[in-house]
Amino acid sequence: MKIIAGNWKLNGTLHALRHMIDALDKIDTQNTIIICPPYTMLCTDSGRISLGAQDISIHSNGAYTGDVSAQMVADCGATYTLVGHSECRQYHGDTNADVRAKASHAIAAGLTPIICIGETMDEKNAGQTMTVIEQGLGECIPDHAPRFIVAYEPRWAIGAGITPTHDEIAQTHQFIAETLTRMGFAQTPILYGASVNAHNAADIMSIPHVDGVLVGGASLKPDDFIPIITSVK
Ligand code: 13P
Repeated sequence: MKIIAGNWKLNGTLHALRHMIDALDKIDTQNTIIICPPYTMLCTDSGRISLGAQDISIHSNGAYTGDVSAQMVADCGATYTLVGHSECRQYHGDTNADVRAKASHAIAAGLTPIICIGETMDEKNAGQTMTVIEQGLGECIPDHAPRFIVAYEPRWAIGAGITPTHDEIAQTHQFIAETLTRMGFAQTPILYGASVNAHNAADIMSIPHVDGVLVGGASLKPDDFIPIITSVK
């Protein structure tokens, strides 16, 4: 059983989400399916599909125009939220300390945070992949966090149509699993994300310590997303 999560980013409509939920309702799978649409679609009745936010505020409430809190996301019936996505780091300046604070808010509100970490191309070229991962895990995971998911998303591969090699994914996921075990979080699911599609999903999810995938572009249409979900048992 794998976890297949879709991140819709700044895409989609309520109609498209309802269409996706209807299509996913008909497939035969034991996998856990999560969709993270924009906030405006989060209060949708999603049946067996879990919904999550793409980000949450670092604040609980107050004069923070434009923000949406973890509590508000939970109030909609959503059960997950991404935190620390590469694009929130790049465009909103989220730091590891911000991600940790957001993950704490998520947990306090009853959500499961999906904590995203991963290296840039410059960091990869400088041989810093494992350092960035170790620092990300060390700095983003709240102490004694009762539940969370880690998503390893190599930032240089997001939306790029390229992925790390099978061996590179195997090495990074092994390292993440070892680091989590050392930190006392041995059972944490670890997702791979970045340029996952129907052609590479089964191979990627056959790699040890890949407990599922976080899919961007290929999660927007049932014709692209369903083959990823049904590619694994
Ligand atoms: P793509 O699958 O479009 O590369 O996006 C990955 C991602 O950012 C998921 O969070």
